[in-house]
Amino acid sequence: MYPNAMNPLFNKVFHYADNATLTTGVALRFSEIIHLTLQEKALVNLALSGGQTPLALYQELLKNHYERTIDWQALHFYFGDERLVPVNAAESNFYQAQTALFVHKNLPATQIFPMQPYPEVPADSSVLIRRYHNLLKDLPSNNANLPVFDLILLGIGQDGHIASLFPGQTACDSWVCATEAPQAPKARLTLSAPIIRAAKKVVILAGAEKQAIVEKIAAKRRLTPTIPDYPVDVLVNATALEWHLGWPS
Ligand code: 6PG
Repeated sequence: MYPNAMNPLFNKVFHYADNATLTTGVALRFSEIIHLTLQEKALVNLALSGGQTPLALYQELLKNHYERTIDWQALHFYFGDERLVPVNAAESNFYQAQTALFVHKNLPATQIFPMQPYPEVPADSSVLIRRYHNLLKDLPSNNANLPVFDLILLGIGQDGHIASLFPGQTACDSWVCATEAPQAPKARLTLSAPIIRAAKKVVILAGAEKQAIVEKIAAKRRLTPTIPDYPVDVLVNATALEWHLGWPS
C-alpha cells in the first residue's frame, strides 16, 4: 500500500500478487464493508460495476463462506452504469449480474434496481435518467442533498474510464448521465461524478491487465494533480476511494 503522502492515487491502494488474490482480497473487503455498514444501518445500498472484472468477484461471493458471512437480504443492488442494450443481452451489466450473482442468491426483484426496467419497457435515455433519479431519492442523502451509496464497486477501462464516465465526458452534474462510449455498445447511462464522490466507500478493482493505465494515471497525477485528464481525477475528493490492484507494488 502506498503511504498516503506519496500516493498520487490518493487514499488507499491495496496490491495483490495477481488477479486470483485480487479477487479473494476484494471479496473479503466487500464482506467487511457490508458488515461494518450493517452495524450502523439496516440495509446496504451498493452500486455494481459493469464489464468483466466483477465476474470473478461474483463467483467468489457464491462460496459458502459468503453465504454465511454476508446478510444478503440486507443488500440493495444498484448499478454504476449501464449499456442501453436489451436487458437480456450479454452486454447488459444488469443481465451479467443477474445471471452471475442474483439468480444464484435467489434475490427478489425488490432488492435489485437496474438502470433499465426489467422486464424491458423500451424508453429513451431521458426517461431512463428521470426514472433512475427518482429511484436514487430512496437512498439516504448527504448535506448537499445527494444520494449516498454505502459502497460503489468500479472497474477501470484501458482509456481510464470509470463507470461510463469517459475521458472528456465527466462534466455532467445530474445524478444520472447519458454518455457515449468510444466503442460499441456506445449509448450508456452512468452515475455522475458527484454521486460517486458522495459515496461512503468507492472500491476500484483493476486486474493486472490494467497496470499500465493505472500507473499512467498515477504518473499524470504526480505531475498535474489538478488537471482532470482522467475521470478518476474528478473523484479526487473521494476520501472513501480505495484501489485494489492485481499486481505487486
Ligand atoms: C462498463 C463498465 C466499465 C468497466 C470498464 C472495465 O459498463 O463497461 O462499467 O466501467 O468497469 O470498462 O471493464 P472490464 O472489467 O471488462 O475490463
